[in-house]
Amino acid sequence: MKTIEVAVSKTYNVLIGSGTLAGLGEIARGAAPRGERAAVISDDTVAALYAAGVEESLEKAGFSVVRFTLPHGEQSKNGSSYLQILDFLAGKHMSRSDLILALGGGMVGDIAGFCAATYMRGIKYIQIPTTLLAMVDSSVGGKTAIDLPAGKNLAGAFYQPDAVVCDCDVLRSLPEDILRDGCAEVLKYGILGDVELFRHMRVKGLEFDREFVISRSVAMKRDYVCADERDTGVRRMLNLGHTLGHAVEKLSNFGLSHGKSVAIGMATVARACAERGICSRDCAEEIEAGIKALGLPTVSGESLSAIEEIMLSDKKRNGSVMSVIVPEKIGKCSVLDIPVEELGDFMKAGF
Ligand code: GLY
Repeated sequence: MKTIEVAVSKTYNVLIGSGTLAGLGEIARGAAPRGERAAVISDDTVAALYAAGVEESLEKAGFSVVRFTLPHGEQSKNGSSYLQILDFLAGKHMSRSDLILALGGGMVGDIAGFCAATYMRGIKYIQIPTTLLAMVDSSVGGKTAIDLPAGKNLAGAFYQPDAVVCDCDVLRSLPEDILRDGCAEVLKYGILGDVELFRHMRVKGLEFDREFVISRSVAMKRDYVCADERDTGVRRMLNLGHTLGHAVEKLSNFGLSHGKSVAIGMATVARACAERGICSRDCAEEIEAGIKALGLPTVSGESLSAIEEIMLSDKKRNGSVMSVIVPEKIGKCSVLDIPVEELGDFMKAGF
């Protein structure tokens, strides 16, 4: 088992290994020494697989356990579910010394984290991510949110968990397509700063070494979060492939998954960079090969003008320039500020 410490406004550990869920009760007791109640928040798919085991472990550690189950899918991450969860916690007389456990993928982690941030002005919580994407990205770093009708993640808070427990064994129950989604974020970490991680994914494909890959990804995310907890500076490097990725995801009406969208974003930016001499052609080809090795797409079927329009409305736009994260080589990226009137030409080179 690997333990990665995240020392920000709160210091907590991310535990990564096979069978870590078995020790959950003890970890929960460490996080909430005087806690009497534990509320497990999950979705119907994940709860059917793992909630009973998690609850047994919590009960053995002396917690009285309650459970709130959401229908699976991003559509549950809304204001109405959020208020239902808060009412549920109040109805169960949860106090500030008690504990919330977010058991699920990114949707569950985001909404349960936001409930933890706001219920009684903040209650302890543990993230138990059950998808690769949530393990390597959303469970670490304290971003919590719900969606509003006007857009994704528009209401939220920075609120760090008290622990993150990643059990590599739960990935066995993950459908291959959802596993691939997380792989796009892992490749991103490789391109940002870990050549060995990138090459491991390229060579192993979906047969990657779970503990190695999750711990190297989390270590990199930790470094960015520690350097810039509130996402006002260097943490934006984590947006490699995301500005264009978000545009294609939105154009598909979220029919194209986040991971596939980010994969297209990274490949397109890499091709554009090779055209401009920012990275070599070999580098762009290697990035595309890594993406393809994981069965992820490298091109979008959307038109350049539609993508450009959405990119220009992205919140990462900074007045008259758009900050795009660009690869210089595998393991080294930088920020390129592109004047908005030149963005179309830049992206065209990658189409
Ligand atoms: N998902 C990117 C971040 O946490 O900043």
